[in-house]
Formats: sequence, structure tokens, C-alpha cells
Amino acid sequence: MAAPVPKLVLQGLPNPRQREFFETTARHTCYGGARGGGKSWAMRRKMVLLMLNYDGLRGLILRRTLPELKENIINPLRIELNGFADYNETEKVFRFPNGSRLKFGYCDSEGDVYQYQGQEYEVIALEEATHFTEAQMRFLTTCNRTTRTDFSPRMFYTCNPGGVGHDWVKRLFIDREYRKGEKPENYAFIPARVYDNHALMIADPEYVENLEALPEDMRRAHLDGDWDVIEGQYFKEWRRERHVCEPFTIPAYWRRFRAMDWGYNDPCCVLWFAVSPDKRIYVYDEYYRTQRNVNEVAASIKQQTGAQKIAYTVGSPDMWQRRGMQNVTRKGIVGESIAESLGISGVPVEPADNSRIVGWQRVREFLADAPDGKPWLQVFPNCTNLIKYMPQLQYDEHNREDAADGNDHAPEALRYGLMSRPSPVLAAKENKRKVVDLSDPFTELPRRRASGFLSL
Ligand SMILES: Nc1ncnc2c1ncn2[C@@H]1O[C@H](COP(=O)(O)OP(=O)(O)O)[C@@H](O)[C@H]1O
Ligand SMILES: [Mg+2]
Repeated sequence: MAAPVPKLVLQGLPNPRQREFFETTARHTCYGGARGGGKSWAMRRKMVLLMLNYDGLRGLILRRTLPELKENIINPLRIELNGFADYNETEKVFRFPNGSRLKFGYCDSEGDVYQYQGQEYEVIALEEATHFTEAQMRFLTTCNRTTRTDFSPRMFYTCNPGGVGHDWVKRLFIDREYRKGEKPENYAFIPARVYDNHALMIADPEYVENLEALPEDMRRAHLDGDWDVIEGQYFKEWRRERHVCEPFTIPAYWRRFRAMDWGYNDPCCVLWFAVSPDKRIYVYDEYYRTQRNVNEVAASIKQQTGAQKIAYTVGSPDMWQRRGMQNVTRKGIVGESIAESLGISGVPVEPADNSRIVGWQRVREFLADAPDGKPWLQVFPNCTNLIKYMPQLQYDEHNREDAADGNDHAPEALRYGLMSRPSPVLAAKENKRKVVDLSDPFTELPRRRASGFLSL
């Protein structure tokens, strides 16, 4: 008679986020965010439950380095599965009574993933996935396969923001920008918050206090699980959850204008702005394309604008100098400047104020809160490039007051647009005085007189 299989008793109940993680069946699920949220706990538990639920399943858990793999995953599981699943130290594998196998590995150097070449695992979990490079992740995806019909392959990723893998994790799970062959429905993200982990809050309240005391950047990454934080970030005040608003129908009487950063090989970015009666600015539409000539850009701007009344459009001053290939019309290359051609095509443009330092300062003023506690600047979610590139803008190494070049086209267009408006600090004063007469400089005066007013 076979020896009876011992009963497995698992301690602890999942919190709601962990439950969500247990329930996901997406091909790729990332449970990411704050430290201490219970990600590793949930991942260990989910792997064990899968091994128990499906006979003969093959699972693989990976981390970059061995000591953490042992401490964080193998040792807790050896305690939990003691007497239930056999652990083989040399092979680093647990064998379950139903034939399932859970293997562990680490990938110290980039090429270590190739040891799994030709192997098949129905489930692969990457602990601290942001420590893995995109190439490693891609390779491991090729090992995530099966010939079984009762289980579709899955990959799990637990991680905090930051690290070599920050960009690919953010692209796939936060920005949800997909390349050829990647299906959006295959990627699920579950945010982790330390406050969700009641077990930890009760057992170790100091843990959260320590996270709360971290310097700003690290606190945002490790306590808030904020994926927009990066080193050298120019706009640290940017917060997706505060600056991106729910879209709404903008009343017809609100003043609207556009701002444009011309580019041909670099992206050409156009933003549409609207000013609310309390002087809050809403960026509500965006155009962002490369290698479009002037006629195509003009046609797209007109099409996107439709019947809306636009008070004015400001454009990067280089549009008055650039000619040549970027300005090809049916007549061939023309000698007109980009600005002239745009005007002829029905999009008249005025040169934007290109003072960089003052301009970025103006952007900062708009990112700050108005007296009602909501930022002066609000962005509609459809302006995806502005939302993506605002937090990515970096300090210029040579001039700490300025922002560095590179992927700055949407922030530049924003700067041009906001420089055509008075500082919100003045708007706040005006709002306080409740000036609603015709001398209101913010809505009634033409742009140049409005900025002239500022320099008084
Ligand atoms: N549902 C739970 N029940 C009991 N303890 C938990 C639970 N979730 C997490 N923990 C404990 O909370 C602590 C932090 O969890 P951990 O999974 O290591 O967080 P993370 O990987 O997100 O940093 C660990 O000691 C872990 O065992
Ligand atoms: Mg962890």
C-alpha cells in the first residue's frame, strides 16, 4: 500500500490585489509597484497552487542572483512544502506528489538564460523582473510553451520600478505600447501597494515608516510604485494620476489654441489647448508623426481640428528657416519656409516664444496646484506622447537649469503653448480679485499684448 500523501496546510489569506493575481489567466501578468506589497508571497503561492491544480505541470522561477533566490523564494518554500514536496538541492527542483515540478534558477550574467534553451515550461515567473534585460525576457518567452491542451502557457513578473528592465516592463504593462506580434490582451498589470499588505502593516509598522522617509525619487518608486520616476528627471512634479484627467466635452466658448514643434525625421508634435474660465489649461488633443511633409501635416491638423474655433497657433521658430525636402509639394521642392507653406495650406502659425529656461519654468508653474488643489495643467488621456515624454525629460548635463534634447518634442510643444499664456500665478491673483470685466488680460487681449502685460 502506498504511503498516504501528507496534507499540505498553507498559512495566510490573500489580500484583494493578491487575489486578483491568483485569478489572472493572462499570458503575461505583471504584479508590480511598491516594496512590501506582498508580490513575492503571492507569486510563490500562485506557483504552488498551479503545481497542485494541474498534474505534471512544469514551472520555473527565476531571479538574477542566487543568494536572493534562496532567501526570498527557495527557503520560504522549503518550510511551507516540508514533508509534502521533495526538494533536490543539486537540481534546485521541488517534485510534487502529482508529478508537477517546480524548478529554480538564476541568471547572473546576460547569457545565463541560454541554459534553458530547448526546455519547456508551462509557467515561468521572473522575480524582480526589472532586473532582467528585454533580451533575456524575450528568450525566456520562447521556453514558455506546452503541448498540453488543458493549460495555456503563462508568465508572471513581480517587480519594483527602476533597474535595467524598467523600460520594457513600463512599455508592456504601463504604457501598453505594443510592437508587431505583441497582443495587448495578453498583458495584464496588477499594481502593488504596501498599504494593501495588512499582514506586514500589522507585523512591522516601521517598514512603511522607513519607506515614507526615503528621498523623494526613491520614495515614489518604492513606496508609491510610481513607474514615471527616473534618475535625472526634469519634471519631478509630473504625476500621471494628478495631471491626466478624465476627458470631457469642452464648452464651445472656451478659448482654444494650438502649439507646434516642427519635425520631419524627428517627430512633429502639435498640441491642442483649451482655457477654462478659471484659467486652468487643458491639453485635449495631440498630433505626433515623423516624416510627414508640410501638406500632410496641415491636412491632419485641419482634419483633427474640424469645426473648432482656434484663436491662434504658435510654432517653433525654426519653422521660419527650414526649407527643402521637408517642404515638398506637388510642384516639387519649394523655397517657402515651413511656416509660410503651412499658412498657405490653411494653418497660419505665429512664432513661439522660445526662451527655454523661462519657458520650462512656466511649465513648472502650470504643473503646480491651483488654489483649488488641482494642478493648473490637465492633460486628456488621448495625448499619449505628451503623457509618455513629460516624465522622461532629463536634465541637461551641461546646464542643470535646462532640459536635455531627445524625445522632447511633445514637452517642447507644451512649453511653446504655455509661453503664449500668462503665468498661472497671475491668474490666481486675478481669480482672487474676481475680475470679470473686459480688461481681463487672460482671455480678451491678443497673445502678444497678454505677454507684454506680463513683462510690465
Ligand atoms: N497574504 C499574506 N499573508 C501573510 N503574510 C503576507 C501576505 N502577503 C505578504 N505577506 C508577508 O509580507 C511581507 C512582505 O511581502 P513580500 O511578498 O516579500 O513583498 P514584496 O515582494 O512585494 O516586496 C513578507 O514577510 C510576506 O511573507
Ligand atoms: Mg519581493
